[in-house]
Amino acid sequence: MARLGVNIDHVATVRQARRADEPDPVWAAAEAELGGADCITFHLREDRRHVTDRDARLLKETVACKLNMEMAIASDVVQIALNLKPTQVTLVPEKREELTTEGGLDVVGLKDRVREVVTRLTGEGIIVSAFIEPIRDQIEASAETGFDAIELWTGGYAHANTENELDDELHRLLEGIRAGERMGLEVHGGHGLTYRNVWRVAGLPGFSEFNIGHSIVSRSVFVGMREAVREMTELLWRHGPRESV
Ligand code: PXP
Repeated sequence: MARLGVNIDHVATVRQARRADEPDPVWAAAEAELGGADCITFHLREDRRHVTDRDARLLKETVACKLNMEMAIASDVVQIALNLKPTQVTLVPEKREELTTEGGLDVVGLKDRVREVVTRLTGEGIIVSAFIEPIRDQIEASAETGFDAIELWTGGYAHANTENELDDELHRLLEGIRAGERMGLEVHGGHGLTYRNVWRVAGLPGFSEFNIGHSIVSRSVFVGMREAVREMTELLWRHGPRESV
């Protein structure tokens, strides 16, 4: 079964709405682990609009499972990651005006800068993943620049409006998984996945990790973080590809 990475950014978003000290994303991470999360994911944005340096430090100290830090390729956050040494860094594009990460990183266009960042991070023993769209050139460029993993943007699937669009997007994801595997990359998925739509991507063979944030944090408002995570792990298990015997 694919690992579940729980993105706790939006717990910090609620806290920052009041510039208060609750709810604490570090506490949310502990609750998520108790609910069965395999990985805690956070995005340290350049504008620190939700997760702060204090959160990153405490998450590193307290998270017992895999810790995945999403970040842009900007020098100051790269330096923070090199000092913090999370288990994994996922490189993402970042625009100040966006509500959340939109689309994938352009590894093809930013190849030289990306290669430099990947080399520095892997040199510290950090697993490095590229958040990219399921496009062959981007996958190839990710393999060439030394990434260990790719996280395929599932937003195209999540935003599809018709059955045809859904089928096309699932096909793109499957092709992306196959290309990534052929190039020796671990393949993750994320963005826009919810309790209602996760089942189809969960059923695609080859995804080893999903990173899910907004939907789990939203559900946790009603049932608590432990239960929200437990319900999502159950969906991944129920709809995950069956091993052939
Ligand atoms: N993966 C990456 C790389 C992301 O940037 C995000 C959003 O922060 C997610 C997964 C989670 O997306 P969502 O909140 O839509 O589940």
